Amino acid sequence: MFFSLGWVTGLVAGVFALHVVQKLCFPYFWKDVFYLVKVIRYGARLEIFKITSKVVTIIDRFVQQAERIPTKPFLIYEGITYTYQDIDKRSNTLANVFLEQGTLKKGDSVALLMNNEPDFICVWFGLIKLGCSVAFLNTNIKSRSLLHCFNCCGAKTLIVGADLLDSLEDILPSFQEDSISVWAMKNKSSHTEVQTLLDKMHQASDKPTPPALRAATSLKAATLYIFTSGTTGLPKAAVITHLQSLKAAAGFWAYGGSKDDVVYIPLPLYHSAASLIGVGGTIEMGATCVLKKKFSASQFWNDCRKYDVTIFQYIGEICRYLCNQPKAEGEKKHKVQMGVGNGLRQDVWREFHRRFGEIRMCELYGSTEGNLCFMNHIGKIGAVGRSNFFYKLLFKYDLVRYDMVRDEPVRNRQGFCQHVNKGETGLLLSKISASSPFFGYAGSKQLTEKKLMRNVFVKGDAYFNTGDLMAEDAEDFICFKDRVGDTFR
Ligand SMILES: *[C@@H]1O[C@H](CO)[C@@H](O)[C@H](O)[C@H]1NC(C)=O
Repeated sequence: MFFSLGWVTGLVAGVFALHVVQKLCFPYFWKDVFYLVKVIRYGARLEIFKITSKVVTIIDRFVQQAERIPTKPFLIYEGITYTYQDIDKRSNTLANVFLEQGTLKKGDSVALLMNNEPDFICVWFGLIKLGCSVAFLNTNIKSRSLLHCFNCCGAKTLIVGADLLDSLEDILPSFQEDSISVWAMKNKSSHTEVQTLLDKMHQASDKPTPPALRAATSLKAATLYIFTSGTTGLPKAAVITHLQSLKAAAGFWAYGGSKDDVVYIPLPLYHSAASLIGVGGTIEMGATCVLKKKFSASQFWNDCRKYDVTIFQYIGEICRYLCNQPKAEGEKKHKVQMGVGNGLRQDVWREFHRRFGEIRMCELYGSTEGNLCFMNHIGKIGAVGRSNFFYKLLFKYDLVRYDMVRDEPVRNRQGFCQHVNKGETGLLLSKISASSPFFGYAGSKQLTEKKLMRNVFVKGDAYFNTGDLMAEDAEDFICFKDRVGDTFR
């Protein structure tokens, strides 16, 4: 701790000294410094986990919060409030069902197919408390693709929401053939091959499970599998380690969020934005979140006023839908201060401000499986992130020339890529290293290798190919330009 604090102070002093002259003519100086200090502070905490092999995971943080602030509202869903203690106990109950039956053991991977509802979170946490890893299945994935997901992450157990069981009717026999056991969140089921969970949860104890079961010794251990769907081919299972989930959970906090915030989550929990940044971020701050079954443009502002929402999560389309709603009286009357998400177009961004007031829109760039993240902590319209000299020391990324016609990066005579000049558009590559590892996709070395670029600037180096064309302007703002190839968020 001592060591890292000294390092932080030293670095801050360095930042200060180097910029002291520039600062008068550099409007973002203090915001940059505050942001950077936060990034470094959080990074130092993760370094300590590495050194001591004692990882405080998101679930550990949740259990800590449930002890510290048991009666604080953690989750609001369809008008019902669940405290930290409520969710903690219910996730214990779920874990105890499997513990008593002995059907799951530490290290098993379990697939979860549920729409947004409180039990999504209770099942997720309960399984992690057993030491299992959890695969979030996209509820739009059907039959054959769904079976493929089980092969990717090696799951032999599926937990399915009560409202989704019927959609599985046609593949229940295939599950049986592959000896995958199916558990439904129901009291009773007409399918003989499906086991029921709710009735068993009613009988089970809510006492805490042994902490040793969920203990993690490495930041690089997989805790979740999140599927990224492509425009072609089968879904890919991105391996989410504790490292990534801890980084994502720091998002709101890095943007200045606190325990007093109320976070609105209208995105599906099976994506990383809602689960890792939204739920994880709420836990990290000890705040409250409002979960929506589905986004509704007509309910959005009423919800925000009713629950005193201060932060909301978005994707570009959400803001566009909100702008397309008919104008109403008092649209600027709400407590929302910040939106966190990605894909907000400049014109929508401006219109959103005009209609709903000066809400700070915080673009967050980073793919589920990627090893790089940008944050636009200034809130400048049109930028996905912001860089500077020190950020580049922490995160090694490069923009390289890209040939749009041949659809590949430009290589010189020696076969190496070339940096673009400031302001020019290039393909964003992120260096893979011990501090920025890439964990790839579960069950497919080939897919993992496809996202890598080797021998980029020197022989033997390796970069994560984001597939995104970006430009960095004279003020160090990073702007998204285009997406190339078969790459997805
Ligand atoms: C399941 O059964 C329990 C107890 O018998 C009851 O309290 C609960 O409401 C039932 N749940 C559903 C979804 O039917």
